[in-house]
Amino acid sequence: MEVFLGIDMGGTAIKLGLVSREGKLLKSFQVPTRAETQDRQVIVDNIKNAIRSALGGWEKVLAIGIGVPGGVDKKHGIIRFMPNIQALENYSLAEDLEKSFGMPVAIDNDANNAARGEYVFGAAKKYQDFVLITLGTGIGGGIFIRGDIYGGVANFAGEVGHMKLVPEGRTCGCGLNGCWEAYGSATAMIKRAQGLVAMGKKTSLSSVPEINAKVIFDEAKKGDEIALEVVEEVCHYLGIGIANLIHLFNPEAVVVGGGVSQAGDFLFERLRRYTSLYTKTEMFETCTIVPAALVNDAGVMGSAALAIMTLEHWGK
Ligand code: BGC
Ligand code: NA
Ligand code: ZN
Repeated sequence: MEVFLGIDMGGTAIKLGLVSREGKLLKSFQVPTRAETQDRQVIVDNIKNAIRSALGGWEKVLAIGIGVPGGVDKKHGIIRFMPNIQALENYSLAEDLEKSFGMPVAIDNDANNAARGEYVFGAAKKYQDFVLITLGTGIGGGIFIRGDIYGGVANFAGEVGHMKLVPEGRTCGCGLNGCWEAYGSATAMIKRAQGLVAMGKKTSLSSVPEINAKVIFDEAKKGDEIALEVVEEVCHYLGIGIANLIHLFNPEAVVVGGGVSQAGDFLFERLRRYTSLYTKTEMFETCTIVPAALVNDAGVMGSAALAIMTLEHWGK
């Protein structure tokens, strides 16, 4: 059996999965990213240790694919910017890993890989033109045009998290302000909820052990007014951004992934409602807004898909 290692590096966790050429996830696990150390060596050693344990016992891993939360100049194989893990900016991660593990390593943006994963194995199998967004620490985007990722001049296309939504708005990890991800990511949601709790608002969120996106959705579903206010606000901003994407690309589908997408109909009903408010009717009606199918495995599966595609290219 031919096996590939797919890696999805996020702001908080690195997910690794061994995937067969047919797309079967044979084994997966995750380790913390350790981005908070802001130390390149620590983070890179951490990735290498995780790869070493993933490869252990698997003799026939043919190639590694990795997705990272930032702009990857594919031509030169260099991570150019990474708003939530700045220690890895201007680093040739793929080259380093190739030297360390003696096999081809392909790297791309995490959301591009998630879009590949959904296209090859998941919710976007039947689409050629779609936009995938991931809602997590940041907001990522993968734009599929006629069955392939659109990369733009330096492969940075699809940085939808940094579309400007609010003039002079909240500061973003990327250094700009008013970015979509400062309003619609899980991080933004958590900060907003924490702010309301700090203001002394009466809410069940003030007594939970940890405020995260799942907890906010759960409390909103149970009827907590403050949690619901946060959800409505975030969905409103997400709707504006999705409407912009629909106007720009006229896609068949907007596929929504990332941890937050697991909130189910409660989320999707609102996303559709807010998006429809800001989208030309003709364009809204021809586009479906659907959850990603691979959810937490999309990045890993997509990175494996990238490894498979790259290896096929390699020999030619
Ligand atoms: C980065 C993107 C990434 C997204 C999701 C953003 O902050 O700029 O490159 O895809 O986060 O991880
Ligand atoms: Na992207
Ligand atoms: Zn930004």
